[in-house]
Amino acid sequence: MNVAKELITWYNENGRDLPWRQTNDPYIIWLSEIILQQTRVEQGLPYFYRFVEKYPDVKSFANADEDDLLLLWQGLGYYSRVRNMHKAAKMVIAKFDGNFPSKYDEVIQLTGVGEYTAAAISSFSINETRAVLDGNVFRVLARFFGVDIAINSTVGKKKFQQLANELICDSQSGIYNQAIMDFGATVCKPKAPKCEICVLNLECVALQEGLIDQLPVKNKS
Ligand code: ADE
Repeated sequence: MNVAKELITWYNENGRDLPWRQTNDPYIIWLSEIILQQTRVEQGLPYFYRFVEKYPDVKSFANADEDDLLLLWQGLGYYSRVRNMHKAAKMVIAKFDGNFPSKYDEVIQLTGVGEYTAAAISSFSINETRAVLDGNVFRVLARFFGVDIAINSTVGKKKFQQLANELICDSQSGIYNQAIMDFGATVCKPKAPKCEICVLNLECVALQEGLIDQLPVKNKS
């Protein structure tokens, strides 16, 4: 089974139509990804619209008054996120000549941008082959391959990154990343996953072995 192909086909028919998926603009993608960190899509959507309307480009964001940013952020919590965004926007002006970077090695230099966000921005905007790893992806991979190594251990992170890198489709990495995250969010869910309609069910190790409820494994921290 070509897992990437199955997921992309599934996504083209069933993926959620979300506003930040209609753009290649790394600034807009960055806005959406930082807003969605630790925030559900339904909760983040109105914030996304308000930010895009008030700050349509990185220059306007960089020039914003920090109090206005904090006010617009109110309700999302974790205020360091928006403070880091302000720093990042200023960095884009100073270091990247006002052009929001798309390449992984450049975006990851921005304050507040980690491996996940850099992979998301570079793959969604320019199809750079960078596999995203978030909670949804960990779950799909752990179940499909039957991996019981803790996702938050050093060995686990390495193992899952390796699996994700093997699966990613070079020519459509952006779509593939969106697909696997959406699939994890809506089909391969933490509770009551929809295994009966899953396009990977014939080869899913956890399903064959009755381990769906046990995977993924996470160490208590
Ligand atoms: N959560 C974080 N990033 C997301 C994205 N690009 N689409 C949907 N949900 C997300």
